[in-house]
Amino acid sequence: METVPADQRLAEPYLLDWLSSVGLDVHYVRAEGNTLYYRDANGEEIPVVDFAGGYGSLILGHNHPRITAHAQRLLAAGTPVHAQFSRHPYANDVALALNRIIRRELGTDESYAAIFANTGAEAVEAAVKHAELDRGMRLRDLAGELADHLAAARLAVLGGATVAPEAYALAGVERPAGPEDGFGALTAAVERHNARQLDRPPVFLTLEGGFHGKLVGSVQLTHNEGYRAPFAALAAPARFVPAGSPEALKAVVEAERATVLDLVVRDGQVHAVERNSPVFCAFVLEPVQGEGGIHVLTKEFAREIQRICAEIECPVVVDEVQSGMGRTGDFLASSALGLRGDYYTLAKSLGGGIAKTSVMLTRGSLYRPEFELVHSSTFAKDAFSCYVAQEVLEILEADGGAAYRTIRERGEKLEGMLRAVAADHPDAVKDVRGRGLMLGLEFHDQAGSASAAIRESAGLLGYTAAGYLLREHRIRTFPTASAVNTLRFEPSLLLTDAEIRQLEEGLRALCVIFREADGARLTGT
Ligand code: F0G
Repeated sequence: METVPADQRLAEPYLLDWLSSVGLDVHYVRAEGNTLYYRDANGEEIPVVDFAGGYGSLILGHNHPRITAHAQRLLAAGTPVHAQFSRHPYANDVALALNRIIRRELGTDESYAAIFANTGAEAVEAAVKHAELDRGMRLRDLAGELADHLAAARLAVLGGATVAPEAYALAGVERPAGPEDGFGALTAAVERHNARQLDRPPVFLTLEGGFHGKLVGSVQLTHNEGYRAPFAALAAPARFVPAGSPEALKAVVEAERATVLDLVVRDGQVHAVERNSPVFCAFVLEPVQGEGGIHVLTKEFAREIQRICAEIECPVVVDEVQSGMGRTGDFLASSALGLRGDYYTLAKSLGGGIAKTSVMLTRGSLYRPEFELVHSSTFAKDAFSCYVAQEVLEILEADGGAAYRTIRERGEKLEGMLRAVAADHPDAVKDVRGRGLMLGLEFHDQAGSASAAIRESAGLLGYTAAGYLLREHRIRTFPTASAVNTLRFEPSLLLTDAEIRQLEEGLRALCVIFREADGARLTGT
């Protein structure tokens, strides 16, 4: 119940009003495992089963006893939390632990360098910034090489070398009558062409339906137009590729490709050779799209992306902010798809549900140490977050990966239930998707419902459904924000059979509500 006077409601009051309108304006006062508690009017604690799981940040559940005990010990011991610009062995230990896991999953020996940040969007932006720093350095190297080759070609021509006729055609200049004047025109055209190509702004590739954060840079990689379009002038735009369409990817790559002309001397003749210019900065993608509706990338498309990106020398940024940290039953969801990232981003559950931390990993062969001098944050790499992250990784890795096995087993059980509900209610449920404990259930659009209340809520169906599940079944879930007909289920690995049954009851009741067009029951009015 709202008791704060209107003029003192200053922390996102609009959002709160909106939450109230769908019955989601609950103040939780305690949390443990998969359960959140609020107090009713009598002061009684009411338990709610949490399937929203902090949007995926709670793979170990709320206030995991080992994590909270560890955090309490750290604070009691007076651990320096902020000691910027000093030795950070704890950060290195997290990087080592992450490398051990990733090497095992990818079957590689290559190391990944770690840059810490605070949020998922920040890790994505760090990856993009690193990729752009790298691209800039590659461009400079290429420009230097082209200039050296051109100078060598000029010398060769002065020494009597001829110019191969097709060089003029490639550079778009007319083949001259006398060789010397012609060479001047050729080099001028080549230099003009190359300068234009080398100056082209970076091209970012990403997938339709993707979500990579809402900061100035990352929001341009996020597909939802509502989030992205108002800020389009602030950062580089991305090319969105429909997931699962290699043809569309090839078309975008063809349209955006940049080539430069390299003048090389071969057997006493100057030739013009077309070379790729590094215009592609990064392909940023989620192996399992979360916010966009729980869509798993197919192995085939992952392979195609990998192949094309290798060909055009475009680094692949695998955004595992939501799908990583064991969420899908593997540490990295992408490793099960056979996808290998040049960069990885991790956040959410890395902080064990209590710390705010994220990390960006860069493949050793691409890493530019200069990046460390141009990217930092006051709060990144702090001791508290790093020690918590270490504990999280230890819990996930303990007993030969028992946690991953639990996630797979619990995920299969939960998915089995969702599929059973879908099979019994094909009129209400359109699809069930996901992996491990990252699952989604999509309802059919209800715009044609016989109930006016249901029809009117069709634009935010999942939120109305979430309000109903909370009110009537004490279940917390949300739709995926950019695909509001899909409810998302990301509970912790502590999920019990009883909690699955509780959700099943709620979902079956919802299906009946949609079938019977029972708007009053849905909205509780
Ligand atoms: N990348 C992915 C794949 C995400 O799912 C998110 C956040 C981010 C980046 C940004 O992380 O919020 O810490 O800055 N996803 C939330 C969601 C908001 O609804 O799934 P952040």
